[in-house]
Amino acid sequence: MNKMPNIIDGQQIAQNIIRDTAAKVAKFHEANNIRPGLVVILVGDNPASAVYVARKEDVAREIGFNFTLKKLPNSASQGDVVRCIQGYNTQQDCHGILVQLPLPKHINAMEVLSSVSPSKDVDGLHPHNFGRMAMGLPALYPCTALAIMDCINSCVPHLKGLNVAIIGKSNLVGKPLGIMLSNMDATVTLCHKDTQNIKQYTQNAQIVVVAIGVPGYITQDFLQEGATVIDVGITIVDDVATGDVLFDDVAPKVKNITPVPKGVGPITVARLMANTLDAMVNIWTNSNSNAQGTP
Ligand code: GUN
Repeated sequence: MNKMPNIIDGQQIAQNIIRDTAAKVAKFHEANNIRPGLVVILVGDNPASAVYVARKEDVAREIGFNFTLKKLPNSASQGDVVRCIQGYNTQQDCHGILVQLPLPKHINAMEVLSSVSPSKDVDGLHPHNFGRMAMGLPALYPCTALAIMDCINSCVPHLKGLNVAIIGKSNLVGKPLGIMLSNMDATVTLCHKDTQNIKQYTQNAQIVVVAIGVPGYITQDFLQEGATVIDVGITIVDDVATGDVLFDDVAPKVKNITPVPKGVGPITVARLMANTLDAMVNIWTNSNSNAQGTP
């Protein structure tokens, strides 16, 4: 029997987060005359990155953030990027710093991400925040993993005891998501390019998340009936944004699925805004409690 699954509406989920964040920004501004300041550092001329950053800028401005795009040339050295970050680390009206990835090959991304002040690390990729997240402590968590959790939470009421297969073990998506889901008592398998017989893991999972950038990789034979499938891949194929899941093939078999585009992507941007607001409030609260002379 052919049936249509629940198509997870990423735009709607994103709108809800953005509306909530915008309201809090307005309230905080009214009370304290401060707006969140977000700085995005873009190194080089990757065309996809330019599109993603433009989207972040649009949303940030729309909801009353101060937004700065700091462009550095492809020839910038690692030291140049780190010095740029250090400048924003100490700039009072900057509350969030995002270094757009990927960086040019001659730059060590880990070194660069580690130079962001943990209190301004709105991407949640600094080892300080990543470690706190691993321990289930409050911190700035990575936006894409948060966005995937939003998708799952919108349609799966309880994660405890469920099997989740994640394909792709990147620091940006797979690893943090695996940690977050483990913290929610799901049983997580983190598959990657050296995993043998990936299907044995995906077929055993109630939730499958794929983030590998291989268009149409997941077909219905990977999945159990009634699975939830989250597609994080986005590759331009013949001018069309294409996910890692072969949507039309998979749709009749699954219960919930994200589309590409308009699935995880818009929520990631919304989560960045929410993280930046949180960073501002934390920085403001800490500086005010210090000013009041705590011993
Ligand atoms: N490039 C693609 N996705 C992301 C992201 O979530 N954060 C950063 N910094 N760069 C990206």
